[in-house]
Amino acid sequence: MTPLRLAVIIGSTREGRTGDRVARWFVDQADRHDDLSVTVVDLGDYDFPTSYPAEPTASVRAFVGEVGRADAFVVVTPEYNHSFPASLKQAIDYAYDEWQAKPVGFVSYGCRSTGLHAVDQLRTVFTALHAMTVRDVVGIDLLHGDPTPPHVDQLRQDTRVLLDQLRWWGLTLRDGREARPYVS
Ligand SMILES: Cc1cc2nc3c(=O)[nH]c(=O)nc-3n(C[C@H](O)[C@H](O)[C@H](O)COP(=O)(O)O)c2cc1C
Repeated sequence: MTPLRLAVIIGSTREGRTGDRVARWFVDQADRHDDLSVTVVDLGDYDFPTSYPAEPTASVRAFVGEVGRADAFVVVTPEYNHSFPASLKQAIDYAYDEWQAKPVGFVSYGCRSTGLHAVDQLRTVFTALHAMTVRDVVGIDLLHGDPTPPHVDQLRQDTRVLLDQLRWWGLTLRDGREARPYVS
């Protein structure tokens, strides 16, 4: 079977961000699963325009292409003022059809919170895009340190649960998209 193509989107582009370290830790876990083909989509690598362009720029097309190729997503998001960062919303809005009938999971983090406010708001956004958000989240409170003991065992377990749900939805929806056109 063709491995499930999982795109891990790093949502923070902040200078000195923690997001790349959180994403690296997660990708290291996900890469241990032979049935997943993991790609990192780092929003910090894209030179997006400051205003929403009338015609997609090369960087917008490149991002949309990555979304279109993926079967499933993990969005790595911090919490900023009880929401998710603007960099993430900017990128999400560039694609539409490419998100449809695909599952989205979350690795979220914050200071004192584990980023669940950000995740709740992202669920609303992805519902508007006909994407399917999976129930369980890997949530990290950075005040407990990055993914390091003693929390690492729990986070690894949470990662297994997230990947199991993404795999089920990802394979099921991939078959569904192949069998019949989506009804958006
Ligand atoms: C503008 C801003 C707002 C923040 N608001 C929250 C918040 O509401 N809840 C929280 O738990 N942490 C909050 N934090 C802490 C961030 O989650 C933490 O700094 C995290 O490292 C940010 O992700 P990044 O380093 O990948 O950009 C905030 C940080 C920033 C920069």
